[in-house]
This record gives sequence, C-alpha cells and structure tokens, in this order.
Amino acid sequence: MRKVGIINSGGDCAGLNAVIASVVKAGIPLGYEFVGFEKGWEGLLSPMKYRTLDRAAIRGITTLGGTILGTVNRGRFGAKAGAGNAKRIPQEILEEAKRNMDSIGCEGLIVIGGDGTLSGALQLAEMGVNIVGVPKTIDNDLRGTDRTFGFSTASQVVVDAIDRLHTTASSHGRVILVETMGRHAGWIALRAGLSGGADAILLPEFDFKMEDLVAFLHDRVATKGFAVVTVAEGAKINASLVAEQTAGEVHLGGLAYTMMGAIEQLAPEEFEMRAVVLGHIQRGGTPNSADRALAQEYGVAAIKAYHEGKYNHMVAYRDLKMTLVPISDAVDQLKQVEATSQEYITAKDLGIFIH
Ligand code: F6P
Repeated sequence: MRKVGIINSGGDCAGLNAVIASVVKAGIPLGYEFVGFEKGWEGLLSPMKYRTLDRAAIRGITTLGGTILGTVNRGRFGAKAGAGNAKRIPQEILEEAKRNMDSIGCEGLIVIGGDGTLSGALQLAEMGVNIVGVPKTIDNDLRGTDRTFGFSTASQVVVDAIDRLHTTASSHGRVILVETMGRHAGWIALRAGLSGGADAILLPEFDFKMEDLVAFLHDRVATKGFAVVTVAEGAKINASLVAEQTAGEVHLGGLAYTMMGAIEQLAPEEFEMRAVVLGHIQRGGTPNSADRALAQEYGVAAIKAYHEGKYNHMVAYRDLKMTLVPISDAVDQLKQVEATSQEYITAKDLGIFIH
C-alpha cells in the first residue's frame, strides 16, 4: 500500500468533504491508503495531527458542508499575504513538514486549496514532495481553471437571499444593498446579481462614480418603486478599497454599510435604504448538486493524476473538460471579472448598472 496524505487549507467551502471522500473511494482500489492532516498545514507540522481516512471514515460525508479535517486560513505555513503576493515559507518549516511526512511513511499529498494553499504546496514540492492540487474557493478566482467547487453553492445562497429581499424591498419601496464575499474578484456578486435580477451590481474589478449610481437609483426607484443592489465586498468607493489591514492581510466585509452612508451623503433622505451583509452564510451548509458533482470529479481526477505521476499539477476544468495545469500557472495571478466576461456583457445588455 502507498500512503498519501490529504490536506485542505484556507477558508472552508461547500464540497470539501466530497473531494476528500472521492479521493479515498477512487484511491483505495488503486492501492493507496490515506491519512487526513487536520487544520490544514498545521496538522503536518509538529505536533502532527492526522487521522486515517479509510472507507468507514468517509462514509456519509459527501453531502456534508464544511470539512471533517477542520481548516485554518492563517498559520505557520502561510504562503500569501494579500492578493497575488507569494511569500517564502521559512526553510525550517518546509523541512519539518517533509520530515514529519517521512516519519509516518507518507509519500505525497493531495492538496485542496486556493491560491494561498497551493502557493505553499509548490514550495513543498520543491523539496521533493509529490503533490497534486485541487482548486477550492467560493470566490472562483483561481486562474488555471474555469470552475471551482463551492462557488455555485455560495452564489445560490446569495440568489435565495436576493429573492427574499426583493419582496420586502418592493413592499417598503426601499433600496437594499446586499453584500457578497469574493475578495478581489466579483464572480459571486455577478452570478448572483444576474440570476437574482439585481438592479445594480458593483464589482471590485471596475470603478464607477457614486453620482452615477445615485442617478441610476433615482430613476429606478421612480419607475419601479424599489431597487436591489449586489455589492461585492471588494468593490471600491471612489476608486478606493474599503478594508481593514491586519498583519499584511486586507480584511474585507461591511462595505454595504459604508456604501449606504456614501449614497446618503450625496442624496440626503432620498432613499430609504437597508444593507445586508451575507458573510459566512455563503460558505456554510451543504453543497448543491453542481458542487457535489464537481467536487467528486475533482477528487477522482486528482488521485488518478497522482497515480499517473503527474505531480505539481492541479486538476482543472477548462472549456468544459477535465484537465491538468501546472500549479505554478494557477497561482501566479487572480482570475477576475473582465469587460469581456460573458456574464458581465449579458448584465450590461440587460440594462443592469454594472461596474
Ligand atoms: O476566500 C474565501 C473567503 O470566503 C472570501 O470570500 C472572504 O473575504 C474571506 O474568505 C473571509 O475569510 P475569513 O474566513 O477569514 O473570514
């Protein structure tokens, strides 16, 4: 039997357990046994924390949200601080991780993570550890793949919220600002805003003038009586990011409230406004059917790639096909919404105020 470790690190997301279960299910017949490191990379560092992942351990988890392994998005292995800034992990930490793996006879890793986690994985791969990556982020911002699991579920949570907010906004004649996650990428706000029928969608990737938004809302409320706006947490007000800076990391969240204040300043008492910050509700709960299927496809593809010796690659969907991309290509840059993105064009053509 060959022993392989499974690690998930960074923010949790719906579908993680389905990846873990499918790596194990498809890997056992290929001659592998698995351990799962707990709380991300921390479980691989001393004192090691891991558990055996056999058939009994993964039974019934495919449909569960969160991750049975636990996770952290900070820690000794942190390889990123902010968008796109890869950091060197101290050599002694990398050596400790390698030594610990050797001590339990673990020959390689399936690493499930976003750009921070996979940047760390690459540095461990340079030490000779066999690694295959699986893309994970609700933000859908990993370059190298068209799709990441968790994104569909998160977007659905936002759509469900928008549907509910529509009826109360219309009853009261209000403007409701709904804030979504996504960090520096606006995919969740865009997908949910488009499919939820938002009047305006504000994205991190583009700037807009507050005066234009106010003029748009003025017309919309005059004609329709109310408006729903999706605001990505990383969107800007007057070209500035509204964020807290902690330990080199920008902490987003709460922009909808600041935005409400900025609108009020320009149009005092014109609109009755409310802000809703959906936050971690978007990350929690059970994966929807699209994410369950995608996560299982990724899990199976990852262990098959590992078995074929395709190390240092990440499984990816491109042009509707499962494929492999070098991890280094996936982590060097964020995948953001562009003016040529189909959903962006569609929203614009539908008359949505999208910037
Ligand atoms: O990257 C995933 C994500 O959910 C972002 O959309 C969000 O900004 C961030 O993580 C929140 O992280 P935390 O779990 O530290 O609050």
